[in-house]
Amino acid sequence: MAMLEVDEIRTYYGNIEALKGISLTVDEGECVTLIGSNGAGKSTTLRSISGLTPPRLGDIRFEGENITRTPPAEIVQRGISQSPEGRRCFPRMTVRENLDMGAYLRRDKEVGSDMDRVFDLFPRLKEREKQKAGTMSGGEQQMLAIGRALMAKPKLLLLDEPSMGIAPILVERIYETIAEINEQGTTILLVEQNANYALSVSSRAYVLETGAVAISDDSATLRSNPDVQKAYLGG
Ligand SMILES: Nc1ncnc2c1ncn2[C@@H]1O[C@H](COP(=O)(O)OP(=O)(O)OP(=O)(O)O)[C@@H](O)[C@H]1O
Ligand SMILES: [Mg+2]
Repeated sequence: MAMLEVDEIRTYYGNIEALKGISLTVDEGECVTLIGSNGAGKSTTLRSISGLTPPRLGDIRFEGENITRTPPAEIVQRGISQSPEGRRCFPRMTVRENLDMGAYLRRDKEVGSDMDRVFDLFPRLKEREKQKAGTMSGGEQQMLAIGRALMAKPKLLLLDEPSMGIAPILVERIYETIAEINEQGTTILLVEQNANYALSVSSRAYVLETGAVAISDDSATLRSNPDVQKAYLGG
């Protein structure tokens, strides 16, 4: 049984059918990528899983339990957290306060050591602990958004375009850290338009086109697919 099973989901915004029957799985320990152009349905897939825009039809199971209509806060408590598209840090709060927000549903005593772990992963955040998030660079805010999602202590981490608007040198750093988070045992479902790095850290990937899965394969196989190279890898 896969950790996450998405089964033929159809998600709507009013009358617009954004997802037209998407199925995918993520095994425990895996890092899986969703790639696709603007409007393909990548963010909507993540938002469906995290309960923000639940599907109208189809099922989502996490660790064998149906979470299709589970409220978002309870989904976080079950072990899924998301770093949303466009970062969405709390601009007037400090770095530390933003990280605390990520842990607000937790009642265990390991919040402090997890914050240390986030600071180990992203030393830049430690340096800027007391700085207001809104004054940080785009790349720093991206690190903060990932760190905040990690503070929920997720079993499954959802990352929506972690490289968007980030300088190439920082993108590399962010991807090294994503690989490290995965190696430390967190399962990851990653969304990217710019797929080179994403395919290098993931084992499998799904290509979405207009709300449906067009291709699914090993990341290495997809990277050498000429159509995929042309459409998604700038080749
Ligand atoms: N709040 C909304 N209201 C209406 N339609 C929406 C809304 N959010 C997304 N959509 C539509 O749903 C479809 C899928 O959007 P989604 O944001 O999932 O795409 P995406 O693959 O994440 O694209 P991008 O790479 O640009 O972020 C698009 O056609 C989009 O216009
Ligand atoms: Mg998106």
